[in-house]
Amino acid sequence: MAVTRKRFFDIMASFPSGVAVVTTVAPDGKPRGLTTTAVCSVSASPPTILVCVDLSSRTLDALRLRRRFVVNFLGHGRSHLGLLFASKTDDKFAHVSWRETSSGLPLLHEDSLAWAECCTVHDLEVGDHVVLVARVEDGGVEPELEPPLMYYRRSWGVWSPVHEEQEPEPVAIAAREISARDLRWQGAEF
Ligand SMILES: Cc1cc2nc3c(=O)[nH]c(=O)nc-3n(C[C@H](O)[C@H](O)[C@H](O)COP(=O)(O)O)c2cc1C
Repeated sequence: MAVTRKRFFDIMASFPSGVAVVTTVAPDGKPRGLTTTAVCSVSASPPTILVCVDLSSRTLDALRLRRRFVVNFLGHGRSHLGLLFASKTDDKFAHVSWRETSSGLPLLHEDSLAWAECCTVHDLEVGDHVVLVARVEDGGVEPELEPPLMYYRRSWGVWSPVHEEQEPEPVAIAAREISARDLRWQGAEF
């Protein structure tokens, strides 16, 4: 038996995430966008991500037709943008600072820590959402380190790095069981 809708939302709300505004251009030339947290890295080679978009999203048609979009990862202090792009306001872009990328897509350049310009390679309907699997063709990172805007249990939050007073215990597994990939996560140099 499936969990209830409420239980499902409660479970998933317990997984903190960054917040991204996915932007594109509609056939009438107008910029469109929505707030998302369902963004995930899929593959490094080729660089691929996925974004899950609700079937009721008014941006979805533009995303499916254009097959290109920008994922704008919001920095802290931008919860008003998270709310704006989660609204059904008609002209969301009248209220924000944005410019076009070289391929004419809307980029929230003043409010994003990093951005990825993507080209959809698969468009898969799953339940009440569409999974857009997309190749990352361009992107950038804001050089000045800035904490991200985060979302957890229906509240906005800010990243706060842990300062451990003691060195963490070494992982209790034999060296031969640890791959180079695992070590990279522990800060080893290659
Ligand atoms: C923190 C947050 C995260 C959200 N994540 C998603 C998401 O991953 N996918 C989605 O389709 N909608 C998500 N939404 C809801 C959309 O932003 C919302 O339905 C919005 O009105 C869609 O705008 P549109 O209809 O103009 O496309 C999220 C909303 C918030 C506040």
